[in-house]
Amino acid sequence: MTTPTGQLAPRMKNVGLSPTMKGTIEAEKLKRAGVDVVDLGAGEPDFPTPAHITAAAHAALDSQFTKYTANPGIADLRAAVAARYNDDYGTSFAGDEVIVAAGGKQALYHAAMALFGPGDEVLTHAPGWPTIYEQIKLAGATPAIVRTRPENGFALTADVVLAGLTPNTRGVILNSPGNPTGALLAESEARTLAAELSRRGVWLVIDLCYEQLIYDDVPHNLPKIFADAMRDRLVIAGSASKSYAMTGWRCGWLVAPKAVISAANALQSHESSNVNSITQKAAIAALTGSQQCVKDMLVEYQKRRDQLMKWLAEEPRIRFVTPRGAFYLFPDISDFLSPDGLRTSIDFADTFLQEEHVVVTAGEAFDAPGYLRVSYATSMERLREGVTRLIRFARKAALAHARA
Ligand SMILES: Cc1ncc(COP(=O)(O)O)c(C=O)c1O
Repeated sequence: MTTPTGQLAPRMKNVGLSPTMKGTIEAEKLKRAGVDVVDLGAGEPDFPTPAHITAAAHAALDSQFTKYTANPGIADLRAAVAARYNDDYGTSFAGDEVIVAAGGKQALYHAAMALFGPGDEVLTHAPGWPTIYEQIKLAGATPAIVRTRPENGFALTADVVLAGLTPNTRGVILNSPGNPTGALLAESEARTLAAELSRRGVWLVIDLCYEQLIYDDVPHNLPKIFADAMRDRLVIAGSASKSYAMTGWRCGWLVAPKAVISAANALQSHESSNVNSITQKAAIAALTGSQQCVKDMLVEYQKRRDQLMKWLAEEPRIRFVTPRGAFYLFPDISDFLSPDGLRTSIDFADTFLQEEHVVVTAGEAFDAPGYLRVSYATSMERLREGVTRLIRFARKAALAHARA
């Protein structure tokens, strides 16, 4: 017997499964049926977790470090998170300004629940990561969305953000490098924003989960710029997932004023308690060990990004801007859509998966119809195969459209 959805709590009317996870589920079904699926949907590194990190986990297991830990994370890990920021960015955070959560996702959820509620507007941006919109709504607040544009490489600017503020704006949530665009908030824009948000007493939650994945040496010292101007209203969300290829370990964190950390700690104490004890030891190794593994992965992502852009340029109707960070390309495929053929990018992505067995994520998931998110966190050889199929499929769609 199925339970009617009307029996569920009203908040569930607005929440569905993360759309970025749907493609993965479909792909799994096809793979189980023996189909050669190219997965360009996944938002996770294809690299193994580096050996010194897994060794720390083995050591934790062997020494029976398998019990509850302090709820916000073991002191060494909280100190290691603070030290990573202080070493990389010249900030002066302390361990008691850190809580470790089950991924950046849970950390961001705690920030939303601790800071926002009914009557609050929380400004964020599109194209953007859907979880941010959903978490604002789950907190009972209202998302206010400003749009970044392909003409500017989807870059976030102070003007765009400030134009979206109203007297009801209680917080701003920004993501840089951004999923799905790879766009960055430039330091100069961050300075302008920091001054204005601080003057207005608006919270800033900055999702820096891809902070270690920036190409071409672009300066991006957002932690220091914002901490200098508005430390009492600043919440940084970070994660071990993308930088250290640790998505399955579930380790992220907030760096925030102590009152926010206490609130997040209270929430976590009734929700999930501490992050897995083994994961915490592994994360200490990740944060305090050599960062060469991060640099090596970045070099490889950059090669893939550059190659992917070259290959896709073979079909000029697939238009895209160069991503500055993260590991996604976000092409505009609207030239291949038509009322009598593939009408939306969801149609495009679904039919592409069924006919060519390639997973990509439709732009609708990121509040950007007409686009696709292509993850290049996969091997060069799979990427080449995926692009070959994408161009073949797009040209077929264009031909069908021309004939109609
Ligand atoms: C923009 C953004 N922020 C945060 C996260 C959280 O990742 P995790 O919960 O694995 O740390 C993700 C994951 O896809 C992301 O894309």
